[in-house]
Amino acid sequence: MSHLSERPEKPVVGVSMPHESAVQHVTGTALYTDDLVQRTKDVLHAYPVQVMTARGRITALHTEPALAVPGVIRVLTGADVPGVNDAGMKHDEPLFPDEVMFHGHAVAWVLGETLEAARLGAAAVEVDLEELPSLVTLREAIEADSYHGARPLMETGDIDAGFADSAHVLSGEFQFAGQEHFYLETHAALAQIDENGQVFIQSSTQHPSETQEIVSHVLGVPAHEVTVQCLRMGGGFGGKEMQPHGFAAIAALGAKLTGRPVRFRLNRTQDLTMSGKRHGFHATWKIGFDADGRIQALDATLVADGGWSLDLSEPVLARALCHIDNTYWIPNARVAGRIARTNTVSNTAFRGFGGPQGMLVIEDILGRCAPMLGLDPMELRERNFYRPGQGQTTPYGQPVTQAERISTVWQQVQKDGGIADRKREIAAFNAAHPHTKRAVAITGIKFGISFNLTAFNQGGALVLIYKDGSVLINHGGTEMGQGLHTKMMQVAATTLGIPLPKVRLAPTRTDKVPNTSATAASAGADLNGGAIKNACEQLRERLLQVAASQLGANASDVRIVEGVARALGSDKEVAWDDLVRTAYFQRVQLSAAGFYRTEGLHWDAKTFRGSPFKYFAHGAAATEVEVDGFTGAYRIRRVDIVHDVGDSLSPMIDIGQVEGGFVQGAGWLTLEDLRWDTSDGPHRGRLQTQAASTYKLPSFSEMPEELNVTLLERATEEGAVYGSKAVGEPPLMLAFSVREALRQAAAEFGPSGISVELASPATPEAVFWAIEEARSGSGSVSVRENDRALDAASANGLHEHEPAPAAPDRARAGTAAFNGA
Ligand code: MTE
Ligand code: MOS
Repeated sequence: MSHLSERPEKPVVGVSMPHESAVQHVTGTALYTDDLVQRTKDVLHAYPVQVMTARGRITALHTEPALAVPGVIRVLTGADVPGVNDAGMKHDEPLFPDEVMFHGHAVAWVLGETLEAARLGAAAVEVDLEELPSLVTLREAIEADSYHGARPLMETGDIDAGFADSAHVLSGEFQFAGQEHFYLETHAALAQIDENGQVFIQSSTQHPSETQEIVSHVLGVPAHEVTVQCLRMGGGFGGKEMQPHGFAAIAALGAKLTGRPVRFRLNRTQDLTMSGKRHGFHATWKIGFDADGRIQALDATLVADGGWSLDLSEPVLARALCHIDNTYWIPNARVAGRIARTNTVSNTAFRGFGGPQGMLVIEDILGRCAPMLGLDPMELRERNFYRPGQGQTTPYGQPVTQAERISTVWQQVQKDGGIADRKREIAAFNAAHPHTKRAVAITGIKFGISFNLTAFNQGGALVLIYKDGSVLINHGGTEMGQGLHTKMMQVAATTLGIPLPKVRLAPTRTDKVPNTSATAASAGADLNGGAIKNACEQLRERLLQVAASQLGANASDVRIVEGVARALGSDKEVAWDDLVRTAYFQRVQLSAAGFYRTEGLHWDAKTFRGSPFKYFAHGAAATEVEVDGFTGAYRIRRVDIVHDVGDSLSPMIDIGQVEGGFVQGAGWLTLEDLRWDTSDGPHRGRLQTQAASTYKLPSFSEMPEELNVTLLERATEEGAVYGSKAVGEPPLMLAFSVREALRQAAAEFGPSGISVELASPATPEAVFWAIEEARSGSGSVSVRENDRALDAASANGLHEHEPAPAAPDRARAGTAAFNGA
């Protein structure tokens, strides 16, 4: 077996090619879960009974009026559940709740002959409620001391000594918004029962094995009675890592009880109001710098808005803590985390899985502190980079082994972007334009690859070679548009030494590969690619034996390249198809199960220490913006990105991931503005941004006018399949450069040295207020230079949340109000 990163002659990996379903995507022939309904007979449609109140105890549920509606077949309630009435892995998520926990919570489901019948039936169900007090915002939850269980604490060095050694100690707060996934395909499932009672569910899920597990719990049957298949998703972005399970369980329960196929698909409004989103966070922080601006100590508390149930909030919070350092060495740190319990949807995984939230905090701190330290933000960032060869570790104790890449990508993006020249041009432009300002900002990323929980870092595959030489691969990962299947076919073709058209890929199914991990943490290609490579290596070894006897050579001298087996130093050859046929007649097994587990990981969630990541992905982005002083409106003029994907498995796919990730990150940080009704009126707790009309997504008009993406060259990652690195999530965080450029452009409207606070999302309105703050010339009240004597006394106090006054409207970030008080 060759080394994991080593590439054979003429590999199919590394070749730019379109997504395997690109043609189907653009011609509209690609099938998604709900398209399968048209191909299924006698389907029943499921419709939720959503209760439109933020919180209340259900005192009675009247289903009879629904049953009187023509076409209504059945109303599913908690009484129907044969197994466990729970949809979550934490068992805090009743599938049919006794208590409404958020505005729009589904408490029952109606099955109808048509969707319209089900809808009318759901409208007819009467729910008697005893209204209960609710906590809708993160701030309300913090004030009420309303938290879910976990309380992680990450500590390194000596925090008190770090602050004592600091020439500057600054502190502040920062509250920032979450994000709606807005995948094009909403949650969907289709469940069928066969003659033996076997349940088959097609589900738009990133985690078929866990969907299978939850469905089997709900139905009270063993896992082998339930098969889950995912053909493809129209986007997941983390939103389908845990959230699909309950929905699939509804469809499965309906099918089990009626014996008919049950189709379930949320419409957009239902998806927006019922499914979890990226966690918004609240952060309090205190940071110490030496006289040169080097970070000496960081004391911070991050509170994630968990929503009504835990879902994935604990691992999301852990990843946030593990990424607060980003690319910066923090010798002394104490970072505490909490999960607020609010009466909103249960927030969940979203591209970056908490990492972006942790990193945003440190980037915000540096952006706000740089002017107070009298340093250019670029200089402040660079001074604090991890340095190679100094044995520096992250605050959780993992050595930063490729620290040189942090400055490599940083320098390359400056060079590629011509930043030095453009800074001069920008200065000249700003001097000549009192009402329009430009700025360029660079930010870097360091993103840990692997699941924090070591056990999840395993992958499986099943590779079949048919007698005619064609190959069918199965693996545990799911396709959501990210190009995983394309990469997996390239890996199989490379390992077997055959042309790509010889390889086909079968839909992800739990009866092909069991006990899989979610396709998440960007680890899809690492884990499943490792497993496919392993399966193909077993098959190749067997076939090399067969070829060796045909060629009269030693197996160790035989290579299969582009579908032809040859021995070194000989002209004799055997074509792949012949080789396979011969192997069949020799009764050589032509299928293999592959397995991969990431070696060298360890993580102790209790002490919050270890080396949970196989490696780090790196990248840097330089963004130039132009801001209008009258309105705060802005344009992204140019973006240059240098991103590290190791040796790319599929360059076009990877560039697509970098571009898409960046734009999605920019959307989160600048446009997408989730709002809930926080009044005490009848709509309290209602998501106000229930459609694309009120929730602004990035579209063509917001694209950077120029977007240059370069993949870092000669970047072989020894620890991953064919030297590649994970790419799915990290580029999202390159969008910090947009936010920092906006902050710097706003600052240009005032005297120099002003620390500007910027809300997140930095909508034009938020940018306008940042400009006003700069113009006021007084500097931000949001970052205070601490009185060192007081600090010692209050250092611990940072972990106790003091009741916070309500923020004025302008400060969605809310922090000015905290510190100004
Ligand atoms: N790209 C597309 N087009 N659609 C998606 O839903 N999800 C992202 C990322 N890129 C996503 C995407 C997320 S959250 C993750 S974790 C990774 O893809 C998962 O796939 P991978 O592990 O194969 O990279
Ligand atoms: Mo991605 S948030 O890990 O599904």
